[in-house]
Amino acid sequence: MTTAARCPVAHLDLVDPDTFASGLPFEAFATLRDQAPVCWHDQPGSWGDGFWVVTRLEDVRTVSRTPEVFSSYARGALLTLGNEADEELALAMTRQLMLNMDPPEHGAYRQIVQRAFNPRTIRGLEGRLQEFADDIVDRALAKGAGDFVQDVAAELPLLAICELVGVPADQRKAVFELSNRMIGFDDPELGGSAAEAEVAMAEMFGMAHALAQDKHARPARSPDADLISTLLQADTGQGALTPDQFAIFFVLLMVAGNETTRNAITHGMQAFFEHPEQWELFKAERPLETAAEEIIRWASPIIQFQRTALTDYELGGQQIKAEDRVVIYYSAANRDERSLLDPDTFDISRVDNEHVAFGGGGPHFCLGANLARAEVRILFDTIARRMPAIAPLAAPRPLRSNFVHGIKELQVRYA
Ligand code: HEM
Repeated sequence: MTTAARCPVAHLDLVDPDTFASGLPFEAFATLRDQAPVCWHDQPGSWGDGFWVVTRLEDVRTVSRTPEVFSSYARGALLTLGNEADEELALAMTRQLMLNMDPPEHGAYRQIVQRAFNPRTIRGLEGRLQEFADDIVDRALAKGAGDFVQDVAAELPLLAICELVGVPADQRKAVFELSNRMIGFDDPELGGSAAEAEVAMAEMFGMAHALAQDKHARPARSPDADLISTLLQADTGQGALTPDQFAIFFVLLMVAGNETTRNAITHGMQAFFEHPEQWELFKAERPLETAAEEIIRWASPIIQFQRTALTDYELGGQQIKAEDRVVIYYSAANRDERSLLDPDTFDISRVDNEHVAFGGGGPHFCLGANLARAEVRILFDTIARRMPAIAPLAAPRPLRSNFVHGIKELQVRYA
């Protein structure tokens, strides 16, 4: 990397979680999109000493859809923090997640689980999701007031993914706690640390191994009975998944399905509080499909993912060199007025909502997008029907993270 355009916003440190401790830096993102849509961000001491920041929606799409140039495998899809030696060590394990694979290997893994997430399967799950949503709302109403994140938003994603995967009811609480500990390590208030996150991941691995053993002892009648059975009977082209490969798959599904949807739901509720006319419109007309899509765009629960260039490539007028890291900011792209009409407006009737909250297309496009959409639709429909007067009691408290655009607490009155 030599004569790159440096990111033109002074003191903008996109690695420091404090930059996101009070929400997304929308003004800085707008400046980057306008003045330097592909720019170099220093990160001294890290592998490559920095990375390219990509903020326009079309460029995010290009990177996502060109995996032969922009690799998820080379340095992983999570923003690199350490130097080469540290990162190589960690990558030895995380490269077994399909999130960190490139085609064609990636396709072989994705195919194993694809069917469990297709629109037809998810439609078949909707009755169950409605039962869960009714039960969640019953319990919240009985409380009268409380933290929407814990009482409402966190519950449905957890129950949905556990149901789909086949985690027994008595272990669902443990999955919830472990996935919280794995993601909250940047926020001291959540009591987290990188070491703590590693311990939690190891514990979830242990849980996966135990579930696999249990399933081996009592196999399901059909491999389609639940995802645990599907995974255990899968063939990657190189034989069955090893116990560790199974455990890694399990962890990915559990974590990816929980935090993201929880934050979409919480940001959605907060957006309705801030735009009461949209809440009135939602209650009156129930534009469920467009509202769910807009909530997810508005929330942009994943701030960014990383790729690494395998060859030289010109993007946004900048010469990216082989081995440079490239970080695609979905959260910035989802406010790009070049691609979206009036993107700073929360509009639940929005059509042509071609956002990139689930990724910019390409092989890694969110596996759980249909499930997440169904959860958001069903839960807000239920809230509107059962607790239409829900109201905030305090300002939301954002999560301190450079990766998850999260809200860790939102105190509300339910009835
Ligand atoms: C609103 C909720 C969600 C959002 C915003 C979201 C966002 C994303 C994004 C941005 C990616 C990366 C796309 C890319 O690199 O091109 C992704 C991948 C993924 N998501 Fe989601 N996600 C959500 C819900 C879910 C759910 C419910 C699941 C269920 C298990 C899930 C499972 C996955 C998996 C397994 C991947 C990796 C796919 C691959 O590498 O092929 N996600 N998601």
